[in-house]
This record gives sequence, C-alpha cells and structure tokens, in this order.
Amino acid sequence: MTPEQRHLNEFFELLRFPSISTDSRHKGDVEDCARWLADKLKEMGLATEIHPTAGHPVVVAKNDHRPDRRTVLIYGHYDVQPVDPLDLWKSPPFEPEVRDGMVWARGSTDNKGQHFAHILGVEETLRANDGDLPVNLIFLLEGEEEIGSPNLPGFLREHAEDLACDVVAVSDTGMVARGVPTMTYGLRGISCVEFVLRGPATDLHSGVYGGAVANPAMVAAQMAASLHDADGRVTIEGFYDKVQPLADWEREQWSKVADGEASTQAETGVPALFGEKGYSSLERRWARPTAEINGIGAGYQGEGSKTVIPSESMVKVSFRVVPDQDPQEIIKMARAHFEAICPEGVTMDFEEGHYGPAYVMDPFSDFGKAAQTALKKTFNADPVLIREGGSIPIIQSFKDILGVDTLMLGLALPDCQIHAPNENFAVENFEAGIRMNGALLEELGN
Ligand code: BES
Ligand code: ZN
Repeated sequence: MTPEQRHLNEFFELLRFPSISTDSRHKGDVEDCARWLADKLKEMGLATEIHPTAGHPVVVAKNDHRPDRRTVLIYGHYDVQPVDPLDLWKSPPFEPEVRDGMVWARGSTDNKGQHFAHILGVEETLRANDGDLPVNLIFLLEGEEEIGSPNLPGFLREHAEDLACDVVAVSDTGMVARGVPTMTYGLRGISCVEFVLRGPATDLHSGVYGGAVANPAMVAAQMAASLHDADGRVTIEGFYDKVQPLADWEREQWSKVADGEASTQAETGVPALFGEKGYSSLERRWARPTAEINGIGAGYQGEGSKTVIPSESMVKVSFRVVPDQDPQEIIKMARAHFEAICPEGVTMDFEEGHYGPAYVMDPFSDFGKAAQTALKKTFNADPVLIREGGSIPIIQSFKDILGVDTLMLGLALPDCQIHAPNENFAVENFEAGIRMNGALLEELGN
C-alpha cells in the first residue's frame, strides 16, 4: 500500500464516526471518535489523554518536551455539523468515498481532514527523524467547536500550565482558490439569539378570527425584516458604534486576491448579490458585521393549503461581529431591539445563545512570517493574506488565557460545501496539509 492510500484509509475511518455534537443521540459516536483519535496519537508514540468535560471530551497529546525548544499547539475539532437535508447528498455523509479527486463526507473539510493532515504530517516527521520533532508539540482536539466550544475556555483555564505554548496553529479556514496558499489573519465573531412568539392559545381558523388577532407568523416575519434597512445595514441601535474600519492595505490586497463579486456569485448560485452599501463582496464577508436569520418557522408547511393562524412562531438569529464589537453587548442590543418592536398581540420568549468575539492577528509578526514561509514552501507560490467571515471563538480564548497568537493555515476550497450537503475535501489538499505540517513545524522550530 502506498503512503497516500494508507493516509486515505485511515482518514475514512475517522470520517465514518457520525460525531454530530449538537445532537444528543450522537453523544456515543462523538465519544467513540475521540477514542479513535486518542488511539491513533498513542500509536504514534505521543503521550495522550482523553479528558471528559460536561459535554464532549477533549483529546490532548504531546511529544517529549525539552526546555530548549519552542512549543507549538495544534488545535482541531472532531465534531461535525448535522447532515440534513439528507436526500440532497449524492453519497451518504458518513460513508466517505473519492470522486473527481475529492473526498465526499460530512466533516471531510470541517474539520477532520484538516486536522488529520496535521496528525499524519507529524507521524511522517516522527518516522523520518527517529521519533523526534523540531518542536515541543501539543495536539488539542475538541468535540464541541460546532456548538460554540462551551467547555473549552474552562478547560484552558484549568490546564493552562499544561497547555502553555509559544504559538497555536489551526487549519480550519479557507484557501481563496486551488493552489493558492492562504493565510487567514482574522475571523469574525458571532452572537446567537432566538425567540418564540405566542399569540392565540391554539391554532385558529383564519376565516373565523383572521383580522381580529395578531398572527405570530406575520409578526415573526415583520420582526425579522426589521433587521436591515434599504442599504443592507443592520438597524439595531448602537450596532456599528465600536466597529473598526478596514485598513487601506487590507482593502487594497483583497481587491487583488480574487474577483470577489464574481466568485461570491458563482460559489453561491444566487441570481444577484446583496449587501451593505459601500463595501465589496469580500469586505462584506470578511470584515463587516451582519445579521442573519438562520431559522424561522410557523404554521402549515405541508402540501396544499390549511387556513390557520398559527398559535406560535420562532426565529433564530445570528450576528457576525468584527473588531471591536463586544458579542455579549450585541446580544443585549438585539434583545432591546426585539423587545421594543414586539407588538402587544403576542408574547415573546427571548433566549440568549452562544457567542464569541472576532479575532485579528498581525500576519507580519515573526510567527506570521514563519507561517507564510511554510505555506510558500508547501505550495510553491506566494501566500495571500485574508480575513474570513466564519468564526472559531476559541482562538480569542487562546490569546486571553494562554497569551498566544494563532496561525490559521486553511485548506478548505471555496466549493467544499461545509455545513451543507455534499461536503468535500480535495485529496490534493489533504496531501498538501501533510506536507505543510512538516514545513510549519520546521519553520516554527527555527
Ligand atoms: N471552520 C469553521 C469556521 C470557518 C469557516 C472559518 C469558514 C473560516 C472560514 C468552523 O467549524 C465553524 O463553522 N464555526 C462556527 C462557529 C459557531 C458555531 C460558534 C461558525 O462560524 O458558524
Ligand atoms: Zn464548522
């Protein structure tokens, strides 16, 4: 068997665990997945522990640490998003297969493929160097990233001494295009809320009572629609007060990175683009704060018509936040906004959800430059520097609790379909990730 085949076989084993963190029915699968990873790391000769938490376990593995070397922590998450709508998958989400040079499976890109490439990269280096690495290494793999890492900040605080390091490296972000090495130096943060609206005590006949009571579905639509003005700006009072403007160098670099308008339209398949006036598509996605409805529900969804006024409705909203917005403050502002506009005809049950701040680091720091060199060596091309719109809230906790920056060297291609049906990971990037790990540890060790 070639090393490439062996890598893929093991990757497929990892992908077969339906480690969906948000769904309690999969708690056992998440645990099994953690155990499989721990066994793999142990087999490689790393000192490995599975730490139970109030939620899903954390896996920590280390080589022998020597005081004269730098310590690098590699973070990844082995939990995945749910798979619905299942009927849109061309092959079952937990039965990985290779088609057209891609591995198709839930978690292939986000994030099993990206962190497993690091694990295999370390395995290759250990093999080539008699069990030695150029750095002190810590693997930190969690099972709760997709639900906001509720237990990881506490874990970091509790084990701060054990996890002390000089820098963190993460591959859980994107590449602007195939073959274009990409360093992400910033991410947006997130603030989640949801509310339930209750009107009549039960569903009502919409002819008998229509026009005389407020319709919770209608109110949900109105409250949701209140979030944006005609210029695509968020209407919540104070929402933009702390937002830092983009630097000139960023706007200039990004305008050259890609044709953001064309690529956004092509990747998403929308008939026309939308967004805040005065900003390009990439600026809107990577550096401007937003409000999105993630779920909205009420009333009859079946075939044909059913003339009711539903008794309830629900809306799930998330905001992407940017430096220096405070995600908790944004949640308070959202509550105040919805409370102020909620009409008398319904009652609102408002729930504050999870949140995490935006993160930005200096891509020209010594570690930033080392990461750029590793990317260049891996892909034989100059890396581009971008920020991205997704969130990995624990990265700011690495800064706050461990006092270190995080290097983001992502391998996700624009059409990888993370969080959607038919998630896929390019085999070419899986192999590149294995090589990149070698280059990165070498650069960081120097
Ligand atoms: N890997 C993503 C984050 C990401 C996606 C970064 C694309 C850059 C580009 C991560 O797994 C994720 O999905 N995070 C969630 C966080 C949330 C649930 C707290 C997100 O961004 O929605
Ligand atoms: Zn994700």
